[in-house]
Amino acid sequence: MMNCLQSWPEPVVRVQSLAASGIQAIPERYVKPPSHRPLSNSDFSLPQEVNIPVIDFQNVFSNDQRLREEALRCIYRACSEWGFFQVVNHGVSHELMKGVREIWREFFNLPVEVKQEYANSPATYEGYGSRLGVEKGATLDWSDYFFLHYMPVSLRNQNKWPATPASCRELVAEYGREVVKLGGKLMKAFSMNLGLEEDFLLDAFGGEENVGACLRVNYYPKCPQPDLTLGLSPHSDPGGMTILLPDENVAGLQVRRKDSWVTVKPAPNAFIINIGDQIQVLSNAIYQSVEHRVIVNSNKDRVSLAFFYNPKSDLLIEPSKELVTVDRPALYPPMTFDEYRLYIRTKGPCGKKQVESLKSPSPCNEC
Ligand code: OGA
Ligand code: NI
Repeated sequence: MMNCLQSWPEPVVRVQSLAASGIQAIPERYVKPPSHRPLSNSDFSLPQEVNIPVIDFQNVFSNDQRLREEALRCIYRACSEWGFFQVVNHGVSHELMKGVREIWREFFNLPVEVKQEYANSPATYEGYGSRLGVEKGATLDWSDYFFLHYMPVSLRNQNKWPATPASCRELVAEYGREVVKLGGKLMKAFSMNLGLEEDFLLDAFGGEENVGACLRVNYYPKCPQPDLTLGLSPHSDPGGMTILLPDENVAGLQVRRKDSWVTVKPAPNAFIINIGDQIQVLSNAIYQSVEHRVIVNSNKDRVSLAFFYNPKSDLLIEPSKELVTVDRPALYPPMTFDEYRLYIRTKGPCGKKQVESLKSPSPCNEC
């Protein structure tokens, strides 16, 4: 299995270069089958103004018990019903958020030869990439990305991060520090809401020093035929949780809600938080890792920073004993994140197929 992950099955095409070439029709490789296109399954039963919940995060730590409980309740409802929410007043400097997004925009605007120096391979995915998954002949998404490791420190290699723009490495390091801090606070809130010790989830992830954290910066170029393709196909995030810094000026992220797709309207200076498959497993499916996708448009490119907060990759992740009862048996068998993420790294985005396929058909006796 590892061998087939060493190189890409086909020559890599940078979507940004394709878009810049002025083509009027997108190549066949990016054309989705009719049922997977952005407008094919629009369900107009949800009003356009529906948005994911927005939570004032400072209330979680308020001395006012009423405010605190209300904020925690909102987070609980968001995690169990939506799998997604936005946080404002989250403690991360707005200037840093703007700065880091701008620096990455500058990176993607560099000549392709400069970016090519960071070209990635499916062995680790680190660096500049243009596809997820190694299946030959797969339909591709309309995006490029840069992927890097921030935690654990043993995997952090700043030499693999862009040397230009000049302040990129420094800004990414500072941003990582702040976002990991926010991640730790969210983990506490998620644990308390499950009726568990506040450190439960962080401990299950291996503790502060051992959690995994990586950044994927997504670049979605303008697209001449946005109705035929997607910037990122439907998927749930395989890790613990994702802290997404969206592009404030261009919407694109859509979240599955029942049978329709809700387009997220980013609140000013907010992060978008979503539950990943590992927290769905640990919570025995009380929290939902919800499918999402990205649409593109013909007028504006879009940059987003997805910060993945993950368990230590060789720990077994399984439903918390406290959440397993006779009425609600363990829904998933234990598995390490290393094993788990091979699936998406091989097959590419596949909706929620993976976590669903793990579900035991009958109660799992070993758990
Ligand atoms: C992701 C993701 C959404 C976005 O990187 O996993 O879902 O808006 N990104 O770019
Ligand atoms: Ni995602």
